[in-house]
Amino acid sequence: MKFFIDTANLEEINKARLLGILDGVTTNPSLIARESIFNQKEIDNHYISICNLLKNEEDVSAEVISNNYTEMIREGEKLSLLHPKIVVKIPMTENGIKAIKYFYKKKIKTNCTLVFTPGQAILAAKVGAYYVSPFIGRIDDISYNGLNIIKEIKNIYDNYHFKTKILAASIRNPLHIIECSKIGIFAITSPINVIKTLLYHPLTNIGLDKFIKDYNKKF
Ligand code: G3P
Repeated sequence: MKFFIDTANLEEINKARLLGILDGVTTNPSLIARESIFNQKEIDNHYISICNLLKNEEDVSAEVISNNYTEMIREGEKLSLLHPKIVVKIPMTENGIKAIKYFYKKKIKTNCTLVFTPGQAILAAKVGAYYVSPFIGRIDDISYNGLNIIKEIKNIYDNYHFKTKILAASIRNPLHIIECSKIGIFAITSPINVIKTLLYHPLTNIGLDKFIKDYNKKF
């Protein structure tokens, strides 16, 4: 399973690279707004800096801001020209679906975002989205089961051999990651702190303390 990091923060991306687990980056307008950048030029340069941080890792999703078809195409084309690693992130709307189809024909990779149902995921695959991003945590937030939605999408995609890759987003806890791997999805995108929760177990710490104490007692 691929590990993408869901952030626009260069330090966090670097931390994930240094940990050795990074396969790619996803951003969204809220994440971009958290960074110390203040105009379009700086945003564009920031995307380029993120892409330049990556070496063998896959790609960086950069989202359009408009929900108007013509504007989406203009923004998406501009984003895709910033760097070869850019994947254009498009929201799951009627215009978004048309835009994904447009980019598919132009061989520009897209990530269909804000997906909450299997029906939306079917549409994204039909028009040739490269990734589909179902939001697990936000589904859980309204008392539905985000992981069940992921399972259903995986099942549907397998039935029809859809090529769209599932990039599970809105990851909030380690179980989201573990369960996604059991379902066999292509990738998760998560904040680094959630990925790091996979590291810890109290018996690991207790065991390590004992090994070191026993060794030091004797030697
Ligand atoms: O990037 C989209 C998604 O991962 C957002 O996550 O935690 O804001 O629901 P969250």
